[in-house]
Amino acid sequence: MVPDTPRSRSLRRRDRRVLWHPFTQQRGWEGEEFPIFESGGGCWLVDSDGHRYLDGISSLWCNIFGHRVPAIDRAIRRQLDRLAHSTFLGSSHEPGIALAEELLRIAPRGLRRVFYSDDGSTAMEIALKMAFQFWRQSPDAGAADRRARNSFLTLGEAYHGDTIGAVSAGGFDLFHAAYRPLLFRTWKVPPPLAYRTRGVSWPEGCRVAALRAMEEVLRKHGRGIAAVVIEPLIQGAAGMLTQPPGFVRGVRRLCDRYDTLLVCDEVATGFGRTGKMFACDHERVTPDLMTVAKGLTGGYLPLAATLTTERIYRAFLGGYEEKRTFYHGHTYTANPLACAAARATLAEFRRRGTLERLPALVGHLRRRLAGEIAPLRHVGEIRQCGLMVGIELVDDRKTGRPYPFKARMGHRVILVARTFGVFLRPLGDVIVLMPPLSISKKQIDLLVGVTAEAIEEATGD
Ligand SMILES: Cc1ncc(COP(=O)(O)O)c(C=O)c1O
Repeated sequence: MVPDTPRSRSLRRRDRRVLWHPFTQQRGWEGEEFPIFESGGGCWLVDSDGHRYLDGISSLWCNIFGHRVPAIDRAIRRQLDRLAHSTFLGSSHEPGIALAEELLRIAPRGLRRVFYSDDGSTAMEIALKMAFQFWRQSPDAGAADRRARNSFLTLGEAYHGDTIGAVSAGGFDLFHAAYRPLLFRTWKVPPPLAYRTRGVSWPEGCRVAALRAMEEVLRKHGRGIAAVVIEPLIQGAAGMLTQPPGFVRGVRRLCDRYDTLLVCDEVATGFGRTGKMFACDHERVTPDLMTVAKGLTGGYLPLAATLTTERIYRAFLGGYEEKRTFYHGHTYTANPLACAAARATLAEFRRRGTLERLPALVGHLRRRLAGEIAPLRHVGEIRQCGLMVGIELVDDRKTGRPYPFKARMGHRVILVARTFGVFLRPLGDVIVLMPPLSISKKQIDLLVGVTAEAIEEATGD
């Protein structure tokens, strides 16, 4: 139970007086207890009363090797002793240069340029703007292309961030509907879902149906589409919606066939989360633009990047007076402290042999979920991709009937889990498990065991 000591009480009171939290109905917040985290170590967070919580969502999907990783701490301190920040507009620095070199070494083959920004949303804005501007000034684009490539093809229920461009490319009504009058138009096709697509068998039928829908739009409107935008392998914020094998490769083929660009948003999936360094690696796909953020700095500091090919880059070259420049940049672009944290994170991947160790962890998690969560009466489906998991709760498993929105069943489950020392955040009635990649098998047992108990208690199973 979250305790109510005078110090915590006072901090909560001050929080409620001055703050407005992200994705939070503040009316509920005002009446709710919440932990105030003050320290951490490994996969654990410690609150203002000294209670420990297993960080079951990697501090919103960004932590990779746990908290207070000595090598990352040291790298940031070393950089701090030299220079905390200088601009990337008109100057450069070694942490930014070296990190770009390292990113290109591990990125899908063919990605050759790195453009830094601050978070997943800005990385996506940049990808969208680059794709749009590419067609306006590419030497291989005809006059028609220059005028017409004004739209994007995106997936239903997509989430690419909260800035207006990223929201336009999104398709998640709960978050996005309010802003519709402000958004630019995109073509949307339904994501390849077995569970919610009646009459289509998993996985082949789903893949084929989704690719057909995409092809239909590309055939009719392809000349007006600057890029197809997807989250590869799994649509995270929509509720961990996994895609059938071959889908990403199929999208790449369609983009080639209909001569449009492919943007892969690896903000959530990048840096080992799906079992390989990038989700695109599973299908050996190179997108034309790829965005990364979250795990890039191991979960330490805000930093993002949009990676692209030489073909796109070259379309922006020209004389000053030609105005082909990519007029975009942020104050903290390539912040050296964040770049140092990112370089240390990539070094930890190599030192620990993380990617080689992941399959055993992923398999262990899969077995525990099958043994403890799948049999529960109110679990409709478990979707897993690497160490990304969504557990969909339903009121009636036979019909798939969801709980009423008002019931906030997902929220109720995570509140119970918290009393057992596991910190989670749901997506509606989907319980998300996304632990740091450094989690041990024993900690996975705790994470799954507590989640099962919390589901049982909250649903009255
Ligand atoms: C796939 C994806 N793209 C983009 C974003 C936006 O990233 P940020 O919150 O860093 O702006 C997120 C955030 O969850 C995401 O999951």
